[in-house]
Amino acid sequence: MSVDITSTFTGIKFPNPFLLSSAPPTESESNIVRAFEAGWGGVVTKTIGLHPVVNVYGAKAKFMRTSIDTAQVSMKKRPDAALHSSWNWELISDKTLDWWQPRIRRIKDGFPDRVLIASIMAGSGNDKELGHWQTLAKACQEAGADGLELNFSCPHMDRKDMGSNIGKDQGLCSVVTEAVKEVSTIPVWCKLTPATADIVVEAAACFRGGADAIVSSNTFPSLPVIDPETLEFEINVDGRVSSGGLGGPAILPMALAKMAQLTKAFPDKSFSGIGGISDLSQALSYFLLGCGTVQVCTAAMLDHAIGPNVIKKLNQQYRDFLEKQEAQGWHQLEDFRGLRRDRVVLQSEIRRPEAAEYNAGYEGVEGYAAPV
Ligand SMILES: Cc1cc2nc3c(=O)[nH]c(=O)nc-3n(C[C@H](O)[C@H](O)[C@H](O)COP(=O)(O)O)c2cc1C
Repeated sequence: MSVDITSTFTGIKFPNPFLLSSAPPTESESNIVRAFEAGWGGVVTKTIGLHPVVNVYGAKAKFMRTSIDTAQVSMKKRPDAALHSSWNWELISDKTLDWWQPRIRRIKDGFPDRVLIASIMAGSGNDKELGHWQTLAKACQEAGADGLELNFSCPHMDRKDMGSNIGKDQGLCSVVTEAVKEVSTIPVWCKLTPATADIVVEAAACFRGGADAIVSSNTFPSLPVIDPETLEFEINVDGRVSSGGLGGPAILPMALAKMAQLTKAFPDKSFSGIGGISDLSQALSYFLLGCGTVQVCTAAMLDHAIGPNVIKKLNQQYRDFLEKQEAQGWHQLEDFRGLRRDRVVLQSEIRRPEAAEYNAGYEGVEGYAAPV
């Protein structure tokens, strides 16, 4: 039996489990076509909405680097600095649904075996807004999208009924998911914000609404640093800044922690992992925690806008990995997916030299002799 890098996730067959996430790499037809030609198994389109979108002046995204000698994190370009993260305050696609529809159709006609997931977003405060979700869902599905990703996670929305403000409210998570499921014939994934106390609560609400998968993480809320020379934020408009999203290598361990919470709480459900992936080493962490696909943004943005070298390396490393593991009977993702999920345990379950005296950090009960 030879190795098989295909993957079936929420009923959709992927040529490989590597997707471009919803972001600039998937903001146009030409980018998505280039991505498929380069070998990506799937793409999630830049989020499509019906409300007005006007981005701020100037740069919408920048990269932070850290110098090896001082560990200083800064957006300033300098030699010998390693990538730390991406920072962005970009809104969703500024193209209309009418612009997207024929393009989704053309892309799917040209690449029937590649997967196109349409990311969508609307408000949630009333029936009219829930109707917007249904309009978006029906339009993308009629255009040929293979699945829908509901954006409950954009970190820079002022509207209380949109983006991560939906992902912070379990009631809204289930109501919106249910409204989309009512009209959809294709799988529905919910992309949650990492900016909540217990992501398991919102995931449970999405599953109650009928979600087929949970996607995590979007970027983490963050600010750019203040330049010690000018005393201004490194990215600002008229000296002002607002909260933006952190992505890339810096968020990998935090995104993994969110994913472990999710896959441990729902071992039989489907999860797509995002955050800090640039090669197989990071993707494996997500697979071993239980993810059936992974998505990439920052690393692809830095590699010719759509990551041709990133996907080439991912596919090659994945093939090599499976070939190496064939001796122990692994041929495909399902043979090892989730293998390390149960290794994430409570502190008190970790072995320690003086276990008897630890008592999970609690003091012994006063007045009683210790049992012998
Ligand atoms: C400039 C930029 C724009 C983004 N726009 C969207 C978006 O429209 N919809 C969405 O769901 N996520 C969006 N994201 C988040 C990414 O899809 C991804 O979840 C995040 O960057 C973490 O992945 P990474 O560590 O590979 O960058 C955006 C990220 C960046 C950097």
